[in-house]
Amino acid sequence: MTRLSVYITRAIPEEGVAILSEAGLTVHTHRQPSGLEREELLKEAARHDGVVCQAPDRIDAEVLKAAAPRCKIFANCAVGIDNIDVATAAKLGICVTNTPDVLTETTADLAWALMLATARRGCEGDRVVRSGQWRGWGMLDYLGADIFGKTLGIIGAGRIGTAVARRAAGFDMRVLYFSRGEKKAMSDLGARRVPMDDLLHESDFISIHVPLTDETRNLIDERALGKMKREAILINTARGPIVDEPALVAALNSGKLAAAGLDVYAEEPSITPALLGLNNVVLLPHIGSATVATRVKMACLAAKNVVSVLQGKAPLTPVSPR
Ligand code: NAP
Ligand code: GLV
Repeated sequence: MTRLSVYITRAIPEEGVAILSEAGLTVHTHRQPSGLEREELLKEAARHDGVVCQAPDRIDAEVLKAAAPRCKIFANCAVGIDNIDVATAAKLGICVTNTPDVLTETTADLAWALMLATARRGCEGDRVVRSGQWRGWGMLDYLGADIFGKTLGIIGAGRIGTAVARRAAGFDMRVLYFSRGEKKAMSDLGARRVPMDDLLHESDFISIHVPLTDETRNLIDERALGKMKREAILINTARGPIVDEPALVAALNSGKLAAAGLDVYAEEPSITPALLGLNNVVLLPHIGSATVATRVKMACLAAKNVVSVLQGKAPLTPVSPR
């Protein structure tokens, strides 16, 4: 009898591969660091019983139609599923899974790393020291903004948003949040739910944690940026297209917004060139969940989802169409 096979679109930690192999599945991993060509994805999706994919893989209707009827599952190694056409997958009877929870605390840490680095001009300071231009301690040099005692606004009070809010207690911050419904976990932390405009108007730090959907695309546009304090700092670890990037550049250039810390971009891996020239931004390469331990957990969860589905059992972390 032919063994069932799984295609992994980009390398994952070996612990995940081992789970697939130990379940008796044949594993094919695409290993080119340059990424996976569209034609190859279309071809491979049709030739396997399951696919382990990642955020840069666009799993649209064309890929899913090519994958059906053989392929039974696309297991995304990410919590965000905006790269997958979940509705079409459901119509074709293909299961989609993601990796929630295991990356929550790691990603919340990174939002805080961006907040601290941006407020205290950490990356700018590093560049100055490395370039040999530092002239020694100066009373008026590299002055940043305090974080303690300030107001933090969380947009999207789910798993990661709540974990970011929890850390704010250590900085004596007032926490506001915007969400479609009241969140008990947030009120238990003393955070207050407010309308979006109030959050934009009152927050010193604004951290984005909504998923990318039709509703949240360009949520932070010129209008929203215009409501923020001039000294506000915007942090985005969610998805690039939630922020209108040209409008953000304009706000940062004109002094309408003090600074921004970004882990995600509108057209990854391309970066709006104007962002590269700004000293008041910290730019990270989409590394929210990138710790050794968390990437192992993500790979193992994705692999367990594949094994469950190919054994005819329910997936651990299924995603349904919104
Ligand atoms: P989550 O638990 O589902 O939280 C998302 C929250 O956003 C939910 O509370 C949801 O509210 C809220 N929301 C959705 N649409 C909204 C809208 N239109 N207006 C207001 N609130 C809205 O997800 P999570 O695990 O925290 O992850 C959040 C996102 O972070 C992911 O989707 C992903 O894009 C991003 N992420 C990035 C990295 C990285 O490497 N940078 C790593 C992990 C995750 P309801 O509860 O009302 O639905
Ligand atoms: C990463 O971006 C994720 O959504 O897990």
